[in-house]
Amino acid sequence: MTIAPTTHRPTTALDLSDAGNWHAAVPRAEFARLRREAPVAWNERYDGHRGFWAVSGYEEIGLVSRDTARFSSREGVISLDDFDNAQSDARRTLLEMDPPQHTAMRQITAAGFGPKAISRLEADVRRRTIALLDQLVGAGPFEAVSALTKQIPIVTLCSILGVDDRRRDDLVRWSDLLIGSDDPDFVDPAYSHFTLEERRMLPFGHPASLDAFALGRELADDRRRAPRDDIVTLLVQGEVDQRPLNAEEFLNYFLMLVVAGNETTRHTMSHLLVALAENPGEWARFRRDRLNPRLAVGEALRWATPVHFVRRVAVAPVELAGTMIAAGDKVAMYFASANRAEAWFDEPDAFRIDRARNPHMAFGGGGPHFCLGNFVAQLQLRVLLEEMATRVAAVELVGKPSRLRSNHVNGVKSVELRLHAAS
Ligand code: HEM
Repeated sequence: MTIAPTTHRPTTALDLSDAGNWHAAVPRAEFARLRREAPVAWNERYDGHRGFWAVSGYEEIGLVSRDTARFSSREGVISLDDFDNAQSDARRTLLEMDPPQHTAMRQITAAGFGPKAISRLEADVRRRTIALLDQLVGAGPFEAVSALTKQIPIVTLCSILGVDDRRRDDLVRWSDLLIGSDDPDFVDPAYSHFTLEERRMLPFGHPASLDAFALGRELADDRRRAPRDDIVTLLVQGEVDQRPLNAEEFLNYFLMLVVAGNETTRHTMSHLLVALAENPGEWARFRRDRLNPRLAVGEALRWATPVHFVRRVAVAPVELAGTMIAAGDKVAMYFASANRAEAWFDEPDAFRIDRARNPHMAFGGGGPHFCLGNFVAQLQLRVLLEEMATRVAAVELVGKPSRLRSNHVNGVKSVELRLHAAS
């Protein structure tokens, strides 16, 4: 039996594009209602941008994510705003491409992010993680984002990209500014002279991208002279349509990696630490029963879901879950919802450190854009869990986490913790 598409528009009760509606917590109750009543719902906007479809159903997200012919990435992925063509082109990275252009772009760095290349980083990641834990375990309360969860991903990222460790703090600062533009804590007066029009054409709409570009140019010049075993070398040697990447393609690719590799892994680690503090029995069980760290990594990713949504645009009229979507409509896939879907996860609102059935969508809903950095992220999370298991008896939450104000990233700005030493 075919179901006739509805002509009425089921709607969201909250404006999900309003960062204020995510600041205190992810709006779980609204997503539970949407999954039940309207897995594809219209979200009106009241700030001049057109509204969009909020897809909260697990199955529907899988369909949209895999169907690149009908749901395009070209008009923007990480924002719910309307972009004109010039703006989209100026900001474009492989995230905002469809096959076959996307396939060629992704191919350039794919080997550098594959399991073989990433496994070579393990000893180094472990050494750095141990060094950080040695300073923090048993040493009294500390702010965990700056002392621990920011540190591991940025060191790894510098090593993959081939960025000198002395530029580490710059990379963290730039990606904080680029991701945190809806949070008053991340307003930097150094960039206040940039006009709205200038910002409009910049990646993430933020002039900090220009500073990251300057570093990207330096690195590219260096690697053209002296190639190394790193991602920047792959980028300067890489080709699309039998030509090297142009300056804009290279710089946007580089910047996207800086941000993608930095924020997401950090926030997953921060949410994991909070979850371990709030579920001491799960941590005790993990240590006592030597549970599988790979399952714990999966649960950390599901629990944290650091990227709330990614967006597509419908290229032609299409029906989804009985709802008609018009050509040109924006469609946001809410992983924040899918990862708590009752039909796919037993007791989805519980943190289960050895959750065995865990088809989470933290890295995307499947298809060609599935997170390129997933092996790097999982390696770092696994090493952190393994090294904590032998050193940390309990994680104690000393202060309430301070959350990033963002409609896109489930960020933790700071959290006071204590790591109690294992005897
Ligand atoms: C916990 C950590 C991470 C999470 C949750 C995450 C999440 C995601 C998601 C949801 C997408 C899909 C975008 C889409 O469907 O349009 C994605 C794509 C991507 N991620 Fe990650 N990511 C993480 C870590 C990383 C790291 C460490 C890197 C690199 C150093 C990275 C690089 C990328 C790249 C390059 C893409 C674009 C892939 C493409 O369009 O083909 N990610 N990530």
